[in-house]
Amino acid sequence: MKKFYVTTAIDYVNAAPHIGHAYEKIAADVIARYYRMRAYDVRFLTGTDEHGIKVEKSAQAAGKSPIEFCDEIAATFQKSWVNLNLSFDYFIRTTEARHAKVVQSLFKQLLDQGDIYKSTYTGLYCEGCEDFVRERDLDENGHCPTHKKPPKAVAEENYFFKLSKYKPAIKQWLETDNNAVRPEGRRKEVLNQLNDPELGDFSVSRSRKSLNWGIPIPQDDDQVVYVWMDALTNYITGCGYLTDDEQFARYWPADLHLIGKDITKFHSIYWIAFLMAAKLPLPKQIFAHGFLTVEGQKISKSLGNVIDPNQLVQKYGADAVRFFLFAGTSLDQDGDFSVATFQDKVNAALANGLGNLQNRCLTLIDKHLDGIIPDCTPIQDVRESANALHVVIESSMEKLEYMKAIEGILALIDLANRLMNDEKPWTLFKEGKKQEGARCLYTVIELLRRIAFQIYPFTPKLASDIWWQLGHDGEIDKIGDERNDGFFDMVPAGQKVRNSGPVFMRIETEPATAK
Ligand code: ME8
Ligand code: MG
Repeated sequence: MKKFYVTTAIDYVNAAPHIGHAYEKIAADVIARYYRMRAYDVRFLTGTDEHGIKVEKSAQAAGKSPIEFCDEIAATFQKSWVNLNLSFDYFIRTTEARHAKVVQSLFKQLLDQGDIYKSTYTGLYCEGCEDFVRERDLDENGHCPTHKKPPKAVAEENYFFKLSKYKPAIKQWLETDNNAVRPEGRRKEVLNQLNDPELGDFSVSRSRKSLNWGIPIPQDDDQVVYVWMDALTNYITGCGYLTDDEQFARYWPADLHLIGKDITKFHSIYWIAFLMAAKLPLPKQIFAHGFLTVEGQKISKSLGNVIDPNQLVQKYGADAVRFFLFAGTSLDQDGDFSVATFQDKVNAALANGLGNLQNRCLTLIDKHLDGIIPDCTPIQDVRESANALHVVIESSMEKLEYMKAIEGILALIDLANRLMNDEKPWTLFKEGKKQEGARCLYTVIELLRRIAFQIYPFTPKLASDIWWQLGHDGEIDKIGDERNDGFFDMVPAGQKVRNSGPVFMRIETEPATAK
């Protein structure tokens, strides 16, 4: 059985999840569902990053102990992901006992073999980035350009990792495999960073004088592990490293690390170097997605535009949110969430395009064919067009070109709607041309089956509802087997449809306020 191991970045628990965090987790869920439906053995890992100065300070500000605070926020993340219908197999928390053991073992291995050594660090640290920064990267006010705050001057004894030793190998990895880091622009960016002679050994511990909330280093009571070394290691803890050999052998290396563009360096350089040092296989691909803005603006607490994904789900349902996020922007680009565009797009595609189609077709089957799928062959040229779209959709999905895949799905919906409008089956029945009417409806039913199948990773509930209304008994995501994805099966004649009303309700847009 083929396997697919997909991970997301693990979110800092300094604040509740926003729509940008949700975007990445849904993107991972889409590909997890896509491969699961094709009978792959999928493992989908997500979770929370709970150590470090940022979390320690947020807990303090909330008047809570760090772990109390982490428990609370981590639960909020989990709940949000369940509400969004995410099918993760495991939710990892870096405060889990087994994770500390994995991190400590990795640290010890690298220390023992001389890849980690003690030295003194003097320089600057940005707490927002949880990263050491250089003077020349700061803005004109001497602030971190991302967090708009001055970095802290740090002078402390630390453990350092010998990145310099691994730079040539990382470069070679990137140059040999064009798909190791995607999109291409990010791969180039990482290659440039590697060419910078100033990118050298970096600190992988913090003194307890500046940070207590971290994984202890057994060899040294005065130090804790640097939060990024801790966090990146989640990807191996989360598939059984040192705790479940069989699971680890099955899933590692990851097929896809899905992350945001701002943390490409940590994954494509630091993580790869740690794995090389530990002599573990490298992930097959790191994909850096773009950033989401809200109504054209950067998501920020101070702007007060942080959208709680739970509220959107409550108001519009998970399917609408999931669909919209990938319908208008390609995953490797920055995208925008705006309520008006969201409502328009979802209404046009899911309520008008797809929901009405299903409703019209099943109503006609009820009225003229007693609700029974007729015994016909589908119209051949329509089927050929659908087959061609299938190829486009599949190859787009495999490349994580979700927007293009959705365009293909919308074209399928359009194909079915055009067929209805051109053939007018209601007129055919009225004119006594029952055979032609039935053939048209059967072709539409076939297309609906395919649309449900293709749209399932994006809108799992809607797809399951369509599936059920078409009269199928099994679950839509269980139709594949090891040889066949089930896509080319047909809806069996004689099957009774279950027309229980529109599968997708139109979003009532708020009326413009009177001037
Ligand atoms: O970076 N649009 O955590 P984080 C899209 N703990 N994606 C966004 C986004 C936006 N507006 N804002 C954030 C961390 N993200 C580390 C990761 S992984 C071993 C450790 C994405 O909470 C961001 O790019 O700051 C990242 O991939 C994820 O959300 C978590 O961000
Ligand atoms: Mg961040």
